Amino acid sequence: MEIKKVLLTGDRPTGKLHLGHFVGSLKNRVAMQEEYESYFLLADLHVLMTKREKSDILHMRELCREMVLDYLACGIDPKKSTIYLQSACPAVYQMNLIFEMLISLNRLTGLPSLKEMARNAHIPEESVPFGLVGYPVLQSADILMPKAHVVPVGKDNEAHLEIARLIARRFNQLYGDVFPLPEVVIGEVPTLIGTDGQGKMSKSAGNCIYLCDDAATVSKKVKQMYTDPKRVHAGIPADPEGNPVFIYHDVFNPNKEEVEDLKSRYRLGKVGDVEVKDKLASALNAFLAPMREKRAQFAMDKGYVEEVIYEGTLRMIKKSNETVEEMTSAMGLSGNWKKISRVARERCSS
Ligand code: TRP
Repeated sequence: MEIKKVLLTGDRPTGKLHLGHFVGSLKNRVAMQEEYESYFLLADLHVLMTKREKSDILHMRELCREMVLDYLACGIDPKKSTIYLQSACPAVYQMNLIFEMLISLNRLTGLPSLKEMARNAHIPEESVPFGLVGYPVLQSADILMPKAHVVPVGKDNEAHLEIARLIARRFNQLYGDVFPLPEVVIGEVPTLIGTDGQGKMSKSAGNCIYLCDDAATVSKKVKQMYTDPKRVHAGIPADPEGNPVFIYHDVFNPNKEEVEDLKSRYRLGKVGDVEVKDKLASALNAFLAPMREKRAQFAMDKGYVEEVIYEGTLRMIKKSNETVEEMTSAMGLSGNWKKISRVARERCSS
C-alpha cells in the first residue's frame, strides 16, 4: 500500500466559519484530503486559554457541531479524513509538557500573535496566563501528534508553524529522528478583507459573510459593504484596485469577463455601486448555495455529526498514543521504567 504524507490543521471552536476561512484554508483542505492522510482538530483546549467559564466550555459542544457542519458542507469527507476533539486525546497533554522543555520563553513571549490574543480577550499584560504563552507549544503538540508533514493555515498562524519546526528539530537533535519538520501551506488568499474594508474578516470585527448565511443575508451584507468613500455618485471614475467589493469579485466570481467589464466601466465612471454589488451578491450566492444545501442535509441527520467526531477522535487517540510511546522511548523516559509502564498497563486493562 502506498504510504501517504500526513496533513493536520484545525480551528478553535468559536462557531460558524466564514469566507475568509474558506479561501485561507478550507479550500486547500478539501483539495488536499485526496492526497494526504488528513486530520482536522477541534481545538477546544486552545479556547481555554482565553475563556474558562464552565458555561463557555459547555457551550463549545454546540460550537463544535456548527463547525463540523461547515467542514462537511465544504466537502471534508469523514471517510477520507479524521475530524477529532483535541481535549479527548491524552497524548496532547503529554506531548505539550515535553515540548515546553524544548523552546525558550523568550521565543514565545516575542510573538506578536500573543499580544494580539491577549488584547482581543481583554487580558492586561500582567495577567496573561502561563497557558496562553504556550499557545504555539500546544499547537506544536497537535501538529506532531500524527507526525504531520503539512499544515494548511491562515497567514496569522505562520509564526506558530515556525515554533513547531523548532521544537521538532530540537527533539530530533536531542533524541533521534522521530518527527518530520512540518511545512506550512498558506491559502491562495492568505487574508481576506472584511465587508467593512477595515481589516481582515473576523468574527470579533463583525465584518463576516458566513458560509451558512442565507441568500437574503448575503445580499444585505453585500449591499452594506464598504466601497470607495470618495465616489459619491456613479459618474465618478475610480480605481477598483483595493476596493473590497472588487476583491471579492476577483476571488468568488467565476465569470471573469463580467468582472473585467465591471472594472473597466468603474474606471470610466460608467457603472453604479448598486450593479457591482448586485452582481457580487449573485456570484456569492451561487457559490454558497450548494454548501447551504449540504449543510442542511447533514444537520437533519440526527447524531451524524457526533458520530463523525467520535469515530475520528478514537482514530486520533490510537495514532497519537503510538507517537507518545515512540517519543518517550526515544528519550529514554519510559525506557528506564519499562516495568512500571508494563505492569500499569496490565493492571489498568484487567
Ligand atoms: N491556531 C489555530 C487558530 O488560529 C487553531 C489550531 C490549533 C491549529 N491547533 C492547530 C491550526 C494545529 C493548525 C494546526 O485558530
